[in-house]
Amino acid sequence: MDDLIINNECVMEEKKIELPVSILKTEELSPDDNRLRVAAIHAAGRAYAPYSRFQVGAAAMLSDGSVVEGSNQENISYPSGLCAERVALFYAGASFPEIPVISLAIVAVKEGVVQKSIAPCGACRQVMLETEQRYGKPMRILMCGKDETVVVSTAKHLLPFSFSGI
Ligand code: THU
Repeated sequence: MDDLIINNECVMEEKKIELPVSILKTEELSPDDNRLRVAAIHAAGRAYAPYSRFQVGAAAMLSDGSVVEGSNQENISYPSGLCAERVALFYAGASFPEIPVISLAIVAVKEGVVQKSIAPCGACRQVMLETEQRYGKPMRILMCGKDETVVVSTAKHLLPFSFSGI
């Protein structure tokens, strides 16, 4: 057995976790994915980020093709602010609770310039995971940069060993 590590008296089984990602040039995105990317850039323009000056936009595509946007909303009491991804997902859940979210695009903008793709924070990943579980459908995550977009086919790939309740 190749993946057994014998360490004195303990025998550990080693497993590898695969993280399949696709990296696409902007021009390779499907029309729907590009629509979502453009919506996320649009959303970033409505960020309230006076403290970090880092504007993040998120756009969630629902299964009926409609798009819900969110942006980061900061607060002088820092932890009270919220990331763009959670604003978009909570807005979708609060407004259209019966309609699954099938894709979520994320983009960061600084001083008017689209940045390299960013990966969502841990708290947002946990919320993404629950959105998938809530609807019983995978949600694709598109991390959009200026020229390239990194895509995972399910939020599960962003949060292995996730908390799933007590
Ligand atoms: N932020 C997001 O909105 N999404 C992310 O994925 C990373 C960080 C926000 C939080 C804060 O308002 C600013 O970006 C700087 O961290």
